[in-house]
Amino acid sequence: MMVLKINRARKIEGEIEVPGDKSISHRSLILGALAEGESQIKGLLEGEDCLCTLKIMQQLGVEIKKEKAGRYLVKGRGLNGLQEAADVLDCGNSGTSMRLLTGLLAAQDFYSVLTGDKSLRKRPMARIINPLSSMGAQIYSRKKGLAPLTILGTQLTSIEYELPVASAQLKSSILLGALYSPKETVIIEPAISRDHTEKMLQGAGIDLQIEADRVILPASCQRHLNPFQIQIPGDISSAAFFIAAALLAEKGELLIKNVGINQTRSGFLEVAAAMGGQIEILNQTKAAGEATADLLIKPSQLKGIEIAGDLIPRLIDEIPIIAVLAVFAEGKTIIKDAAELRVKETDRISAVAAEFKKLGIKITENPDGMEIQGVDHLTGGVKVESYHDHRIAMSLAILALRTCDGLTIAGSEIIKTSFPDFKKLLEKVMK
Ligand code: S3P
Repeated sequence: MMVLKINRARKIEGEIEVPGDKSISHRSLILGALAEGESQIKGLLEGEDCLCTLKIMQQLGVEIKKEKAGRYLVKGRGLNGLQEAADVLDCGNSGTSMRLLTGLLAAQDFYSVLTGDKSLRKRPMARIINPLSSMGAQIYSRKKGLAPLTILGTQLTSIEYELPVASAQLKSSILLGALYSPKETVIIEPAISRDHTEKMLQGAGIDLQIEADRVILPASCQRHLNPFQIQIPGDISSAAFFIAAALLAEKGELLIKNVGINQTRSGFLEVAAAMGGQIEILNQTKAAGEATADLLIKPSQLKGIEIAGDLIPRLIDEIPIIAVLAVFAEGKTIIKDAAELRVKETDRISAVAAEFKKLGIKITENPDGMEIQGVDHLTGGVKVESYHDHRIAMSLAILALRTCDGLTIAGSEIIKTSFPDFKKLLEKVMK
């Protein structure tokens, strides 16, 4: 187990770029593999999660060539060109790989087995097995819908389905399976979740219709994907750790260049601003249908707020780092309607509560969220745990910057699933 020691930093300064968006990286590899022709990807996140998807696509017969760091050529085989893998497909820690690929593999004319690490094998897969089974899929799991999953690929039919949770993984899993049905598929969302799959399918020539609360794949639209060229923007979920570090610093100024600010992902920026954070959004532009910008962040005195409702899916991965902001905000921060946090890479509500309590922070754990009372001063000097969750590990590292004696984070190796250069980049901006 790796241990990361992070000390106090009063000044955060510099200009950085964060690695490519994780969600878009997975989708680029999958959709590139299904396209008819060669796609070019620039800025692919080379974290372990996306490398699992990459390796799986190769096991399914897709040629993927690395040209240089982050730059790949994917030789698409068309919707019906995938081949049966010779072995089990390992998704590692990646829920996105397992959920998206289950939808895709359910529609192939071959057999597949998907597995993952200890954390992924505890995460709920019934949420994808149920709707895909209604489409005719043959998917077998351990008890309670847990992976490994065995998939006997078959012809799928379409579905009109109301998602029980706002989940982009679930929505995308159904959409990928639905590409193989000639009939109309309708997916209704309880709240808007990230829409990268929809944007990328549209970009590849699929005539998806996107309405306020639903996505429609019409019966009439053609079912083949054109190859594409994509420059993947920086991941706002990774940027959030550095934004928090700069907001919480006493001095300095941080510029983060080329960050994806897609509306369905940018809830963190709204929350940080509502807490009093000074973040300037500069040079807004669009790359491959995705809004991007440079973010200029200055030290700020924060105040506690309430975060709930439809905003939650738009910042779901950022809640652990929002909890860190809350620790140093004046007053109380209340986070509600976030029960989904309990089924992420770990139960993020109980992990945050347990680790914050070790530091003497007043935090109340609720079934669907938490309440955090801000403090003036944190001594630190203790050992905390990652719970084998990259975002818990990185959130605690940022928290450490504002403690007197720093923190030791056990299990920090998990950070490489989404942000291999996190430590290097943090050291670069710590002054
Ligand atoms: C993701 C969707 C979200 C998010 C995850 C990535 C995606 O999960 O938490 O990190 O790429 O579709 P849910 O679909 O479970 O909300």
